[in-house]
Amino acid sequence: MISLLIGEIFGKTTPKHFSMKLFQEAKRHDFVVVKDNEGRWVLAQIEQLENLPEGEIIAHCKVIGYRDRGIIVTPRTPLKPASLVYRANNEILEEVLGFDKTGLYMGVLESNEEVKVYLNMEQLISKHVAVLATTGSGKSYTVGVLVEEILDNDVPVVVIDPHGEYSSMRYPNTNPLDKEQFKFFGVEPKGYKVVEYSPDTKINPSALPLKFEDKDLAPQDIIQMLPAKPTSAQVGLIYSAIKDLKDKKGTYTLDDIIEEISAMESNAKWNIINMLDVIKSMGVFDKKGTSVKDLVKKGQATVINLRGVNVDIQQLVVQRIVKDLFDARKLGKVPPLFLIIEEAHNYIPEKEVTFSSKIIRNVASEGRKFGLGLCIISQRPARVDKNILSQCNTQIILRVTNPNDLKAVTYAESIVENMDKEIKNLPVGHALIIGMEVPLFIRVRVRKSRHGGETIKIADSFDEYLNVMQPVNFFNLKNPQDYKRIYYPFYYITLDNGQSYLIDAIKGKQLYFENNKALETEPLDLSKAVKLAFELKEREGNVLDAKISEEIIKKDLGKRLKDIKKVYYVYYVKGNELVDGVLGIVVKK
Ligand SMILES: Nc1ncnc2c1ncn2[C@@H]1O[C@H](COP(=O)(O)OP(=O)(O)O)[C@@H](O)[C@H]1O
Ligand SMILES: [Mg+2]
Repeated sequence: MISLLIGEIFGKTTPKHFSMKLFQEAKRHDFVVVKDNEGRWVLAQIEQLENLPEGEIIAHCKVIGYRDRGIIVTPRTPLKPASLVYRANNEILEEVLGFDKTGLYMGVLESNEEVKVYLNMEQLISKHVAVLATTGSGKSYTVGVLVEEILDNDVPVVVIDPHGEYSSMRYPNTNPLDKEQFKFFGVEPKGYKVVEYSPDTKINPSALPLKFEDKDLAPQDIIQMLPAKPTSAQVGLIYSAIKDLKDKKGTYTLDDIIEEISAMESNAKWNIINMLDVIKSMGVFDKKGTSVKDLVKKGQATVINLRGVNVDIQQLVVQRIVKDLFDARKLGKVPPLFLIIEEAHNYIPEKEVTFSSKIIRNVASEGRKFGLGLCIISQRPARVDKNILSQCNTQIILRVTNPNDLKAVTYAESIVENMDKEIKNLPVGHALIIGMEVPLFIRVRVRKSRHGGETIKIADSFDEYLNVMQPVNFFNLKNPQDYKRIYYPFYYITLDNGQSYLIDAIKGKQLYFENNKALETEPLDLSKAVKLAFELKEREGNVLDAKISEEIIKKDLGKRLKDIKKVYYVYYVKGNELVDGVLGIVVKK
């Protein structure tokens, strides 16, 4: 094994820890190896760096161990003082960490980018997963990666999607900014089979209507759906109304139950009738319901798009769906599946009962037995039901900035106790995965399918999206994901003499065209456009509308115009900094 010597063990050692003097530069989380007394290479990880007054740098390391018969074993005796420490190479990392390469490919190790990280599918489904981080840290993006991998394994996925972000997975990721990343991560753009349902197809016209069958709802079903906990007298009314209906008619609807209870003589009835009316008026019950078998299909992501849907209705819908899925799994009517709940604090809040919280609790504690894997996503871990969180044995933690949320994350897992600072400082798209043998910092891979969490306007016009100008400097930015992208419209025209020019589609042709600057020969003076883009950055959406119409340019140039295409120029904005994404020039305000 050829590895780089980076240090020497210094001071006292224990079986779990040692410190070393560094000969070479090293970072936290870097993996190192040391030979133990038996001549085995033992893997360890740098936890902390310390500067000594004499100028030396000490790295404090945690021993991980070596792999023996399939499991990681920590040596029982401390490593010898003054042992030499080497940088761990990729082979030994892969051997000790022991990834199953048929698993779910999530990204690469932060410290060793050539090492791909895989999650185990069976473990995820049987032990649930939580994805926790502050808004904008990359939760939905990461879950998109997870969904792609699960679908590639032919397992069905159902996504509870309050923002309508996941339907875009049906398209391949054509973001030109990601070209480099495809090479780096070794993946290719790909669209997936997505079927979208929504209780409100007016707001979400691309979705199929989602309905639940209004037929023979059991008393327990009704009680579970009620927006408040019924009294025992009310429960009694529901039971006896349904019993009477069964005896009289055999089959019944919500209307029948309301009618039956209305006819009863009891003071308790008004409240319950009121609650049943509320449920009915939500409009999610119908003669014919959506079949669970349509929702759960191998290799299909079913997106339950709840965009624009009232929170109570959202919770009711979630309650019904989760219950139907759970029942269908218990009866083996559908294959094992993965259920993803975005913005989970809305459905399973801490210290609060909602329409949907009880059934999700059941799935969290029992779903594993029935092949119903749960993925809980939240930006407010502190507000999510702790019991459910603690059932999620795998946790994918991205950047968390709120101290209370950090506590909720660290509360369940002693492993992350000392990682507060790391978690606060994770760059977008970087994650700490815990629940595997070793906690790992990873860089989440690029998406194969299109991420829907951004620039909705772009997604509306797929063809224009393809014409974003090729930026060169994006990845030279320090934390590229911290920048907001702005797309500035231009017309790219070609004249009959074969020359091509860019014309500013907001300010008109005066910019580059009058000076007759050819695109290929002279650097463009884009300073005016840059300034304008900056002024317009506060506008809603980040695709700026063209003010000059194509028609005007066509009319002006007449026969001289051979071709005209609308293209977008990319700018990056962060605070007071604006970067020309094509030329890579940083412009300060
Ligand atoms: N792994 C990643 N690689 C590249 N860009 C990412 C990654 N994760 C997140 N991003 C960027 O960050 C933005 C916010 O991510 P998103 O997943 O929507 O955040 P969240 O769901 O946590 O609010 C995305 O639109 C995307 O541009
Ligand atoms: Mg999100």
